[in-house]
Formats: sequence, C-alpha cells, structure tokens
Amino acid sequence: MTGRMSIVDGDITRLRVGAIVNAAKESLLGGGGVDGAIHAAAGPELLAECRTIGGCPTGEARITGGYRLAARHVIHTVGPVWHGGGRDEEALLAGCYRNSLALARDNGVSTIAFPAISTGVYRFPAIRAADIAARTVADFLAQNGLPESVLFCCFGRASADAHRAALKALA
Ligand code: APR
Repeated sequence: MTGRMSIVDGDITRLRVGAIVNAAKESLLGGGGVDGAIHAAAGPELLAECRTIGGCPTGEARITGGYRLAARHVIHTVGPVWHGGGRDEEALLAGCYRNSLALARDNGVSTIAFPAISTGVYRFPAIRAADIAARTVADFLAQNGLPESVLFCCFGRASADAHRAALKALA
C-alpha cells in the first residue's frame, strides 16, 4: 500500500488535488497554523460555508468546497490535543485520518493531502503521530480503491523525516 502514499514538503494550500485536509478546531471557525493558512488562501466563502456546518467533534471530519484554493475540496478534521496519551489521543488521531479518507472516498476524491494533524499547537509528538497516520492510511487503502493516492504534506524537515521513517517501517 505504500505505493499509494507519498510525502511532499511544503505549503498544503498550493496543492492542486481533490482535497486538502485542514487541522481545524471544533468550532470550524478558523485559527492559526495550517487552519489559518487554508482560510487565508480559500477566501471568506470557506468560513461562510463552515458556519453552516455547526462545528465538528474531535476525531471526526467534515467536507466543504475549496473556493479560491487550487484544491477542489477542504476536508476539515479536528485532531486531539496531546495531554500525555491517557485521554484516547491516539485513537482520536487515527479517527481523523480514517474519517477524512472515508469522506474523500464518498465524494469521489482521487488524491487527498494531509498536514501533520495535531503536531503543532495541539502538541502531539510528531514521530508517534506520523506512525499513526501511516498505519491508519495503509489500513484504509488496503480496503478501499478511493482515494487512489494520499500525500503527506509535511511542513519542514523534521516532519517529513518522521513520515518517511513511518512509511519505511510499513514497507
Ligand atoms: N501547509 C502544511 N502544513 C502546515 C502549514 C501549511 N501551510 N502550516 C502549518 N503546517 C503544519 C505544522 O507545522 C504542523 O506540523 O501543520 C501541522 C499541524 O499544526 P497546526 O496547524 O498547529 O495544527 P494542530 O496542531 O492540529 O492544532 C490545531 O491550531 O490553528 C489552530 O484552529 C486550529 O485550534 C486548531 C489548532
């Protein structure tokens, strides 16, 4: 399955793919980090659509249009805040990837790009997060033909290295 997963290093808002994933907060009303970058690039219509959704629980995902982004859709998912691992954080993070992939499949998305969910403001350990991401995506792709390919859009060397190591461990 690793043939359908790859790593890109850069700004997710630039990717011309079926869907980019946003690491959002439960209100879905924007924020900093990748959330701020996606809303800035998509324009105000994205926030307007997000307002109609009424939020998203941690671990789940919602899909909207991409508006001024190169991507056709944005899939908003809410990662867990890291509290040391005793509050189901790992299962919730896996849910972010699985639920985002299911939305991509159900909406006919062929290529989806993920940022490293929860590893910024939410302080999830980057290496552990990358392992969860790679394993969860590989399991989903083994049972589903769509999305055809998954990009891990890493922001910076450390994140890209963590994802490369995680994919290598799967092969
Ligand atoms: N493209 C790709 N990745 C990015 C970009 C970008 N333009 N900007 C930041 N990142 C990376 C960060 O370096 C980190 O590896 O996205 C990852 C997730 O970091 P955050 O954006 O801080 O997201 P998260 O840790 O999930 O925290 C979410 O932060 O911005 C608020 O509203 C958001 O409350 C939510 C919280």
